[in-house]
Amino acid sequence: LLVNASRASGHPISDRLFGIFFEEINHAGAGGLWAELVNNRGFEAGGPNTPSYISPWSTIGNESYVMASTDRSSCFDLNKVALRLDVLCDDKGDNACPADGVGIYNPGFWGMNIEKGKTYKVVFHVRSSDSVNLSISLTGSSGSPVLASASVIASASDVLNWTKMEVRLEATATNHNSRLQITTNQQEVIWFDQVSAMPEDTYLGHGFRSDLMQMLAQIKPKFLRFPGGDYVKGEWLQNAFHWKDTVGPWEERPGHYNDVWNYWTDDALGFFEFLQLAEELGALPVWVFHSGFSIREEIETPNIHPFVREALDGLEFARGDSDSTWGSVRANMGHPKPFDLRYIAIGNQDCGRKNYRGNYLEFYNAIKQAYPDTQVISNCDGSSQKLDHPSDLYDVHVYTSANNMFSMAHQFDQMPRTGPKVFVSEYAVTDGGKGNLLAALAQAAFLIGLEKNSDIVDMASNAPLFVNANDRSFSNDAIVFDSSQIYGTPGYWVQSFFAESSGATILSTSLQTNSTSSLIASAISWQDSDNQNTYLRIKVVNYGSNSVNLKISLRGFDSNSIKLSGLSKSILTSAHPTDENTFQEPQKVFPKKSPLRSISKDVDVLLSPYSFTSLDFLE
Ligand code: AHR
Repeated sequence: LLVNASRASGHPISDRLFGIFFEEINHAGAGGLWAELVNNRGFEAGGPNTPSYISPWSTIGNESYVMASTDRSSCFDLNKVALRLDVLCDDKGDNACPADGVGIYNPGFWGMNIEKGKTYKVVFHVRSSDSVNLSISLTGSSGSPVLASASVIASASDVLNWTKMEVRLEATATNHNSRLQITTNQQEVIWFDQVSAMPEDTYLGHGFRSDLMQMLAQIKPKFLRFPGGDYVKGEWLQNAFHWKDTVGPWEERPGHYNDVWNYWTDDALGFFEFLQLAEELGALPVWVFHSGFSIREEIETPNIHPFVREALDGLEFARGDSDSTWGSVRANMGHPKPFDLRYIAIGNQDCGRKNYRGNYLEFYNAIKQAYPDTQVISNCDGSSQKLDHPSDLYDVHVYTSANNMFSMAHQFDQMPRTGPKVFVSEYAVTDGGKGNLLAALAQAAFLIGLEKNSDIVDMASNAPLFVNANDRSFSNDAIVFDSSQIYGTPGYWVQSFFAESSGATILSTSLQTNSTSSLIASAISWQDSDNQNTYLRIKVVNYGSNSVNLKISLRGFDSNSIKLSGLSKSILTSAHPTDENTFQEPQKVFPKKSPLRSISKDVDVLLSPYSFTSLDFLE
């Protein structure tokens, strides 16, 4: 491999080349990145009509002691359903409740993770014509042991109207499969609504689960595409993501049924939180909005204006002054400073639809007029034919086998270098099990191809980002978690090797080999923020079953200037190409780093079969 390390020989890589794509799929947000422990906190998941089911809430005590039902008596106008609890037993006599009381419990999303010494804020809304004496507790999955508990006592006059109550619970033990209980032993009727339990150690205190955030921060994403995918549009229009329903106080959000991936979301992770997430990651937000298409329905262009208005209002929410109509809503949520929302995608995978071009132009013209600096992304793949509408970027989605993904490393080599830029906004290997080594290597080769073509490929993100192991709608995701555990798939670790690529310089390389078909390599160079140090990283994928002796010849720099302390070699490989990580073996396929001991202009590297090797140099 001949590497010309002179930066003058290379070209700059887009400073937003590698980012992440967050979709509410696989319980990525509800029961995932958003740290809320209660599932269906407003009892709304059964729909607006009552009686309705309250799952996963359930009662504590059998029907001779307690009855739970729903009615539409909530104080929140957009989510009227509340829980009515008829307590039929009392604290003494023949009619005595069971010793631990009766009530309701919520097991969260396949069990709540409660950890010793940590504190949890429980908020709930309550109403009754009698005084209430409630026990709020976090317990094991069967109601014991009790991990934390507090009493809430209020007089009838205090709870005659809906009242917000708040308690802080400190856990005295750890249990990864816990539940929240609200119990009493007073005979009466009590209504509950909007019950929340949040750990107090969320990332920067903003509600994101810290361990999942750390995994995101580690790969230094330069943009965040959100909130989906097909999630944006819904199977049916009535279940699409409408940003206005997801902002403002959490208690007032109606929530909606995610009918594409089949679960309820309270929309706690709403438009504001996505923008905040991007900001906290130092990533540019890329908003995918509804362009008038669900999977099964379509808005005709003459009727698209309310949707255009919705998009413009969303831009005002993100970017407007705090005295503008929607900017003031953002400011009231605690963010007077506008968010840097400049990238917007008009729909998701809607290009083939009858009204796409017509709808697109209505959005494009209105948005460019109001916000001329926005970068508009079309759903139509312009790599095969010229687009018949204006755009700054266009989506390319790649879902394919590992072998095909490997060969697609050269997909963009011959493309015209003018026109709108390519945004590979979703790519995934579809035959890679739950995320195996071979899939990751194919993905690494594809990313090397994107780096090399970064004069026309401006942005790229893998799909899907997260999977809660209890709800796997899509196999082969980057980060796997449950209530308390987390690991990166080999594909996630591949992404970590590209964390420095955005904004770096891609160097000229030439690979001379008789086994070209199984090898691909690239070299990048970058400087740290104060331009003190220059780094060189050479990445090589060996997609074949044989080891390869690779001689790397470095040209265009003075090997005497290389700092030995900065030399290292990292290898991602495993005994079998189908090896995957699991909760039991989270680091079965994991980058192994070792020092490179000496350096000259020629470096010999033994590439293991099915491996990804990264060599780092510090000048
Ligand atoms: O990534 C999962 C889904 O695949 C996305 O929602 C959609 O855009 C694609 O078809």
